[in-house]
Amino acid sequence: MLSYRHAFHAGNHADVLKHAITIQLLQYLGQKDAPYMYIDTHAGAGVYALDSGEATKNAEFDTGITKLWGRKDLPPALADYMALVKGMNPSGKLRLYPGSPYCAEKTMREQDRLRLFELHPRDVKMLVENFRKLEAHEAAQGRTAPVRGKRVIVSHADGFTGLKALLPPPSRRGLVLIDPPYEVKDDYKRVKQTLEDALGRFATGIYAVWYPVLQRMEARQMPEKLKRLPANGWLNVTLSISAPVPDGFGLYASGMFILNPPWTLEPMLRELMPWLVKALGRDAGATFTLESGQTLPVNTGTRRTA
Ligand SMILES: C[S@@+](CC[C@H](N)C(=O)[O-])C[C@H]1O[C@@H](n2cnc3c(N)ncnc32)[C@H](O)[C@@H]1O
Repeated sequence: MLSYRHAFHAGNHADVLKHAITIQLLQYLGQKDAPYMYIDTHAGAGVYALDSGEATKNAEFDTGITKLWGRKDLPPALADYMALVKGMNPSGKLRLYPGSPYCAEKTMREQDRLRLFELHPRDVKMLVENFRKLEAHEAAQGRTAPVRGKRVIVSHADGFTGLKALLPPPSRRGLVLIDPPYEVKDDYKRVKQTLEDALGRFATGIYAVWYPVLQRMEARQMPEKLKRLPANGWLNVTLSISAPVPDGFGLYASGMFILNPPWTLEPMLRELMPWLVKALGRDAGATFTLESGQTLPVNTGTRRTA
């Protein structure tokens, strides 16, 4: 079933959380000269027009990026994310919003590699086209073309399955973003199975999973199951912009679950999350949770903060 189109949700509060964290993780990997690979198993279209019919239908961007657009007091953890969005909108009017592949491309270096999977025929076409335009734009500015050679490879394929063949990356350094639509229950199961397999192939990779916070059992159980995977630690952060609303009345909260998180991530989120709750919160029920722990037998401590 491929009815999900991310264009309807682009720039919402969940995208803000996901993209700000993805950029932080890539920046961490970029601190060493050695190249790394970014794999996006569910890439979407890459760039979204916020004035398109899909995006304006529910104007979900008003729950996220619009609220940050004019802020002059952004915390340091959002500076690069906002600079990236502003860079796409040089006129000063918010019109384009970056998807995860675009956030990654703009954060990554010449020596790093992007591997993008997208199953929807229209979105994969748009993704290829968006990267082609980016390449033409960069070339016109006299900069190296991002798509040249093997730096960026877009596959019209199932990302859960396609990931296997890419692990471990030749450089043994990498980030995998897993961001399925969760329209079918099976996605929850496949996330866990995919991570189990991936950790067997590339134990030291950083894995980031986006998920919706919903009442349905699979959504509530998934983070608990991921905590038991054999990685060198995990971090789980959720952002709620309002008090809970019943499933089907719009998404009010989402989370990012990270396996093998860099040590810098938790202190950064402790600063960022209270600010985001205030900036994006719709009512007194807005809140965040941040917890981390170890799953390997050596160390089994768990800490939780709300
Ligand atoms: C939440 S959207 C991705 C958004 C994107 N990661 C971003 O942050 O900009 C999920 C995407 O996964 C695609 N998709 C669904 N099942 C897939 C699968 N098994 N493999 C690859 N892509 C899939 C959908 O067509 C949709 O574009």
